[in-house]
Amino acid sequence: MCGIVGYIGKREIKSRLIEGLRELEYRGYDSAGIAVMQNGRIDSFKAVGKLSNLEEKTKSFSTDGLGAGIGHTRWATHGKPTELNAHPHMGEYSYVVHNGIIENYREIKQMLQEEGVAFLSQTDTEVIVHLFELEAQRRSDLFDAFKATIEQLDGAYAVLLVTQKAPDTIFFARKGSPMIIGRNDEGELFFASSDAPLIGEAKEVAYMEDGTIGYVTPDTIHAEPENLVFVPLSGDKATAQKGGYRFFMEKEIYEQYDVMSDTMMGRVLDSDIFFEEIGDSFLDGITRIKLCACGTSYHAALASGYLFERLSKIPVNVEIASEFRYKEPLLGSDTLFIVISQSGETADTLEALRMAKEAGLKTLAICNVDNSSIVRLADTTILTRAGIEKGVASTKAFATQVMVLWMLSLYFAKRRGSMDTEAIKEELRFMHYVPKVLQKSLEVHEKCKRLSKRYLHGHGFFFIGRDIFFPLALEGALKLKEISYLHAEGYPAGEMKHGPIALADAELFTIALMPKTLLYDKTKSNVEELSARDSTILSISPEMFDLADDFILTHPHNHPMLEFFEMMVVEQLLAMEIAIRLGNDVDMPRNLAKSVTVE
Ligand code: M6R
Repeated sequence: MCGIVGYIGKREIKSRLIEGLRELEYRGYDSAGIAVMQNGRIDSFKAVGKLSNLEEKTKSFSTDGLGAGIGHTRWATHGKPTELNAHPHMGEYSYVVHNGIIENYREIKQMLQEEGVAFLSQTDTEVIVHLFELEAQRRSDLFDAFKATIEQLDGAYAVLLVTQKAPDTIFFARKGSPMIIGRNDEGELFFASSDAPLIGEAKEVAYMEDGTIGYVTPDTIHAEPENLVFVPLSGDKATAQKGGYRFFMEKEIYEQYDVMSDTMMGRVLDSDIFFEEIGDSFLDGITRIKLCACGTSYHAALASGYLFERLSKIPVNVEIASEFRYKEPLLGSDTLFIVISQSGETADTLEALRMAKEAGLKTLAICNVDNSSIVRLADTTILTRAGIEKGVASTKAFATQVMVLWMLSLYFAKRRGSMDTEAIKEELRFMHYVPKVLQKSLEVHEKCKRLSKRYLHGHGFFFIGRDIFFPLALEGALKLKEISYLHAEGYPAGEMKHGPIALADAELFTIALMPKTLLYDKTKSNVEELSARDSTILSISPEMFDLADDFILTHPHNHPMLEFFEMMVVEQLLAMEIAIRLGNDVDMPRNLAKSVTVE
């Protein structure tokens, strides 16, 4: 996701900015740019792809002495990852970088175009710089012009702006997107969208509150409505990248709330679903779907199988990629072949995709890594926008995959007329609520931590659930075994009596997913059967269950998918806390790799 840096000082400015951006690389990006101001002149450089491309472009440029600069890494949302869409965006004499989304940019753009402003990019951000220059024509004080600009923006933003009319000055504003300002004893000032670029550079930092607006010069820091509060900055770079969390996995679990909003941005509207990635005729002639993936991505596919059939009334078939490859599958050209992969490099999934292409099927990838092999091969891709996932055990990538698939099932439902407008709107209303659910679900972290001490032994775990909660049970079991090395299986709750119940005793731990909105009584009966055989039961449910030995109470919701996302977080936290107690390396579990590029 996007990153911002800024600098005022006497050291070489370009290097400060690029080094700062490098610390934000882990967030993921597809283009980068800087604007450097010195002696009343601004030079700007942008490049698509990695920071090394930007370095190459700027290799003969350097500064000497006092100046200011702003920099940005962009993860495309509005408009493709091109140089024109990369930040900084320029007006006649000013440059801006921005994180977030300007919701009313279309209205502002239209107004500016009527004033004769020409736009170069497809982004929402570009309106900021033109609006600023329009406001600057109307008043003599540039900070007033900046304030008047920011007042007109709806949405979320962290903004830095430099203008030739105010040498060695950076204007800043923050609402809904993080922004930090740092300073040191050498009189240097730094901006960044997270701690990492400031570590080792700034001595103290101020975390801006929402609504903060101001400007800095080499000897002034002006902020409104309240002064900034500086606190000492400590820590090393590794801790900073983890944002204070013990493990990347923990950080990524906590990020799910944020990244889910990114996944939905511009796609989940109030009464419609929109994918700019899917062309008008792309789905013509499609009457069935085949989904193919591995591991956690396969579980996302399995969950979506229920959604596609229930909501879009389209037949679906889900395959494990390593099985699909050698089964001599029968493939018809009316099938849309969807592959799901976090990394985009999984060898089995890639090969399955190749086979589908060779058979002449239309192919769609759901992937987190742009320009990966799978993305390059598929006819089209929907990026999940989870940001880089470092923990080997997938968390936020899974959450965003499921979200994209739910969105896609609604997209099909609309196209196929299997749901009416009102029903779609209702579903969208629930979708909009997901980030909140993910945030609230973190409230049980403490409880998971305490409970984890009771689940460090035994001869195995069964995660059980029905319907979409069956794939979620599979995913809970996979998370636990990956990082705790304890034996765990996911099973359909109704299937236990056909064999696995023979294992039931006090040392068999049953983690029961018991949502209230879907087959509650059926699941309850299945759990009762296990309880009667003395299995130790941990129920995860919004309803107390008296036969459970332990329970984690979830919030009541009116939609199964909201219960799904809440229980997903509980499973992730529980697995992580058990693994931590066992002393395991949660981020790099033994024998596993983040990207499985071998068969
Ligand atoms: O990158 P992919 O989504 O294609 O990877 C597939 C599996 O290797 C992956 O999901 C694996 O199961 C993870 N370690 C799950 O946490």
